[in-house]
Amino acid sequence: MYTRAPATLSDKPADASAIQAVVPRHVAIIMDGNGRWAKKRGMMRLMGHRQGAKAVTRTVEAAARMGVKTLTLFAFSSENWKRPADEVAGLMDLFAKVLQSERDNLHRNQIKVRFVGDLQRFSTKLVTAIDEMEELTRDNRAMQLNIAINYGGRWDICQAARALALQVQAGEITPEDISEERLQEQLAVVEDVDLLIRTGGEQRISNFLLYQCAYSEFYVTDKLWPDFDGAALQEACAYFAQRERRFGMTSEQVQALATQSK
Ligand code: IPE
Ligand code: IPE
Ligand code: MG
Repeated sequence: MYTRAPATLSDKPADASAIQAVVPRHVAIIMDGNGRWAKKRGMMRLMGHRQGAKAVTRTVEAAARMGVKTLTLFAFSSENWKRPADEVAGLMDLFAKVLQSERDNLHRNQIKVRFVGDLQRFSTKLVTAIDEMEELTRDNRAMQLNIAINYGGRWDICQAARALALQVQAGEITPEDISEERLQEQLAVVEDVDLLIRTGGEQRISNFLLYQCAYSEFYVTDKLWPDFDGAALQEACAYFAQRERRFGMTSEQVQALATQSK
């Protein structure tokens, strides 16, 4: 029997490299505002999504150039199925087209692409294209790009809990072995988010990376997603570089830690 309380992430010594990072290692973006961008121009919402896809290309290239290690983009939430059927169908169509048109470009730029979310609800054709893209880019090392589709933070925590329950059932671990780290290892997106960007001005998380954003810096801009570009990403990263990340400590402790590790 285990009597010791499971280790928790918060017991770990503070991560000096995260505190001192100037370029965020993991950037996550809630790409919001496509509909409003189109509406302002008297266009259909789908036109906003099409323009949004161009902003994705620009942002991926800019992030890789800046030295971001992981970029996670929220493209479709588990709640977005509630939208009008024609908008959902248009988005599915757009995903398939972009997968096709961006394939070579992403591979040439050494981007490793992964799709995160509950993929069961998508068509076989789309899932096949996703598998091919992941297979093609699996050994690329310039940047990891996670595209979150049919993703929800609650779904992610739930599927991680289920995976651990199966390990317990199989006798591989005991309930006492379940720690914050073990749970995190089972998440669809494992790495903590350093910088969370939301375009479109809303100050909410909309069921994105709930577990992974425990200590991320939040940057909200009124800019609508189709207007986002490399300069906007740089602005967000400049904001990040100015933050003092304290992870629960005092400012004095953080500064002492920074001096120690120099
Ligand atoms: C984000 O833009 C894209 C998706 C959710 C797929 P929206 O479509 O939510 O744009 P707004 O918020 O209506 O302007
Ligand atoms: C969040 O945007 C999801 C994506 C950007 C994919 P929403 O537009 O769905 O968020 P809410 O509904 O305004 O919270
Ligand atoms: Mg929205």
